[in-house]
Amino acid sequence: MKFFVDTADIAEIRDLADTGLLDGVTTNPSLIAKSGRQFLDLVAEICDVVNGPVSAEVASTDFETMLAEAHKIAKISHRVAVKVPLTPAGLKVCKIISSEGTMVNVTLCFSPAQAILAAKAGASFVSPFVGRLDDIGQDGMGIIKDICEIYNNYDAFKTEVLVASIRNPMHIVKAARLGAHVVTAPASVLKQLFNHPLTDKGLSQFVDDWKKTGQSIL
Ligand code: G3P
Repeated sequence: MKFFVDTADIAEIRDLADTGLLDGVTTNPSLIAKSGRQFLDLVAEICDVVNGPVSAEVASTDFETMLAEAHKIAKISHRVAVKVPLTPAGLKVCKIISSEGTMVNVTLCFSPAQAILAAKAGASFVSPFVGRLDDIGQDGMGIIKDICEIYNNYDAFKTEVLVASIRNPMHIVKAARLGAHVVTAPASVLKQLFNHPLTDKGLSQFVDDWKKTGQSIL
């Protein structure tokens, strides 16, 4: 399973890249706005820090402008995955730029039916938003199960399931049990994966007992 961090905060990205466990980054217009940074410069900087796909989203919703934006974003780096919304225009752009060799992340996916369309349009990634479905009382992980099952039925579907809108570590564990290829989560949630009180307690005991031996390994 690949771990992407869902942020446009370069300090957070550098920090997580240092762990050696980070496989990519996803951004969206809301995260870019929060960063206060110039979009194209920031995406280029992220591509220099992370050795993996960096999702950067188009801003327009009409086909022609979206295609022009996609071409401009794709020029930043071969690591860029252009993010397009799951709309007819977005999927049209997806089909074109995928066939040109650009990675595409189809975002704002909320149903297995939409995920089938993304795969048919040649997306490298589809991003189902589990947290936002949970927020309205629906079963976010339920659509991940359905999408993984559907994609596994067709060798021709090469699209990776990128579980997005992650709210807690259990979303990641459940996505892994279902065989989803990628999760993208806020840095705070990825860091929570390390934690268990028995790890802290056990380590403290080992450190104390080792001191009693009076030995040094180095
Ligand atoms: O970046 C896409 C997705 O992960 C957004 O998540 O938390 O805004 O629902 P959220």
